[in-house]
Amino acid sequence: MLKEKIESIKKRATDEFLGAGESQKLYEAKVKFLGKQGEFSQVMKEMGKIPKEERPQFGKMVNEIKIELEQVYKDQESQIRKKELDQKIETDFLDLSLPGPTAGQGGAHPLSLVTSEIVKILGRIGFSVRLGPLIESDRYNFEALNIPADHPARDMQDTFYVDDQHVLRTHTSPVQIRTMESENPPIRIVAPGPVFRKDHDASHSPNFNQIEGLLIDKEVSMADLKGTITFFVQEFFGKGLKTRFRPSFFPFTEPSAEVDCQCPVCKGKGCQLCSQTGWIEIGGSGLVHPNVLQASGIDPERYQGYAFGFGIERMAIIKYGIDDIRILAENDLRFLGQFKL
Ligand code: PHE
Repeated sequence: MLKEKIESIKKRATDEFLGAGESQKLYEAKVKFLGKQGEFSQVMKEMGKIPKEERPQFGKMVNEIKIELEQVYKDQESQIRKKELDQKIETDFLDLSLPGPTAGQGGAHPLSLVTSEIVKILGRIGFSVRLGPLIESDRYNFEALNIPADHPARDMQDTFYVDDQHVLRTHTSPVQIRTMESENPPIRIVAPGPVFRKDHDASHSPNFNQIEGLLIDKEVSMADLKGTITFFVQEFFGKGLKTRFRPSFFPFTEPSAEVDCQCPVCKGKGCQLCSQTGWIEIGGSGLVHPNVLQASGIDPERYQGYAFGFGIERMAIIKYGIDDIRILAENDLRFLGQFKL
């Protein structure tokens, strides 16, 4: 009885193993016949029914059949594997012509965009770029600019001192002196770049950017300054916007004027950006003080000049309607991505 059962298992198992065309089927057949709960194990449990003296011989036979079946299974398994691998190689196609993952397209920072636009506009009327060091000597940052020793701008509260004689430049005006010392008039330059002040709140950063303008020539007047700045404001912020000059004071210009432009957002009607005044201050300006010309080796009797210094962050905010200056320094790609060229 038992023997017949085992013969039957052998036959059916062999048939199913050889008939399995894919690994899943083969695996199922293996579980069915050779698994722990499989038919073979069930039969083995009945060994006890066989007379004692026949057991060793019977056991040997069963064992041989099991080994045989396992061999059939293994052979079939390796054949199926090979077949499936061949199929995979045949059908799987690695398309080497597909484009790879892209790194994403970068773009210029809004401050760089604003800077290059200002430089371009002023370039059209003859200004070219000069740069200066960020660590400046006391002489270039203050002394030659006619800023007296007791001027508040020199205060430890406002200025980062590197040592007794050197500071992180507090404005781009030292580039005026450097240029006048090394070049002969007529001079027509713009100097963009970072400046530093010990100043930190919602609308002031200790590190911001300015753009300085300087023109030295014969017979330069406030009218030339006003003409240039009015032209610039209209090109940069939009045609039809008025410019306003308010009397002011800087040690290195005389007369001095604060420059306001009509708010580009409300066109002068009054809004949040301009605090309901209709006007926005963009920087300082004036005619170069004779003391400054003299300190730079230029004869104030023969030459005059005008200078202006604008805040670049301020201009970016006005131009793009940004309501918080700090976002410009946060490197948030959702913000920066809007300024791609
Ligand atoms: N240097 C001045 C400042 O930082 C701005 C300025 C530049 C004013 C040139 C007049 C002329 O505030």
